[in-house]
Amino acid sequence: MRADMDELEKLKNELKNISQEASKVRDLPPEKRADFGREINAKKTAILARIAEAERALLDQAVEPLDITAWSGVNEPLPKFYATELGSKHPLMTELDLVAAIYQMMGFDIMESRQLDDEFHMFDSLNFPKEHPARDGYDTFRTEENLIPPAHTSTMQHRVLKKYKSRLDEGKAIAVAVPGRVYRNEDVDATHEHTFYQCEGVYVSRDCTMGQMLGILKDFFEKYYGQELNIRTQPGYFPFTEPSLELLIEKPKNIGGKKGDYLEMLGCGMIHPNVLKMAGIDPTVYHGFAWGGGIDRLVMLKYGLSDVRNFEAGNLSFLREF
Ligand code: DAH
Repeated sequence: MRADMDELEKLKNELKNISQEASKVRDLPPEKRADFGREINAKKTAILARIAEAERALLDQAVEPLDITAWSGVNEPLPKFYATELGSKHPLMTELDLVAAIYQMMGFDIMESRQLDDEFHMFDSLNFPKEHPARDGYDTFRTEENLIPPAHTSTMQHRVLKKYKSRLDEGKAIAVAVPGRVYRNEDVDATHEHTFYQCEGVYVSRDCTMGQMLGILKDFFEKYYGQELNIRTQPGYFPFTEPSLELLIEKPKNIGGKKGDYLEMLGCGMIHPNVLKMAGIDPTVYHGFAWGGGIDRLVMLKYGLSDVRNFEAGNLSFLREF
């Protein structure tokens, strides 16, 4: 078999030489060109026929059995290893780490959210009344066992409150940021994905205020975009906060923002007393605020990206840009 392969290789080289020879036609006087061309074509046809024959012969050969007991060490660079390219971190993961690092720098603990959760953490623990239409607003996926791939990182609020409530007894505050992957059963287009990322923030103390929340959020966005910016709020509705707000930021100038260009970035508010109560925290003593917003939007804005679908598409030319 090896010999036939060598023969084929030789014939292919000959064909290459003939093609090179053919280019010499330009140097010939016009009256000699026709004969030269005929000669070259005849050679070419003969070689092509021999190549075809050699290829056919190779195909017709009986498959030689491999010696399956032959040693092939996993670390040895066998010629049959494919050429590979070193991968790199997905841009969303790089940015998610940056978001977590900023919150950490501000004194927050980090707790990652789950990829499969339940009705209680998705809705009940967040003060969604049973059968309330607000539950439908989250377009949740469900497994056959009625588990829910979380539609927001707020599913972690109850766990955060329970895990860290001893801090309150020590006279400290609960301050936790929760980055995580979330899922919604909605139609996908340039600005909507079924799978995306959010980061939640939860803060509880005896005397916290909404002003403190807005200050923290402004500080976060300024650190993330690396420049001062203005914020604005508008009323919102979430069963787990009272009052509820939507926070807008003025598009940072270093990424093309103009004065008065505001973008909605997240939902937030003062944690509803029922949410605190369900986690065993006395709402007459302690108060809290919480927020949650999409990471994908944050990153798209930073890099001027217009199609969220690129993040999940496995499109290498897109990923190589980062
Ligand atoms: N979970 C909400 C969403 O995905 C966003 C949100 C709003 C989170 C208010 C909060 C909050 O923690 O307090 O739409």
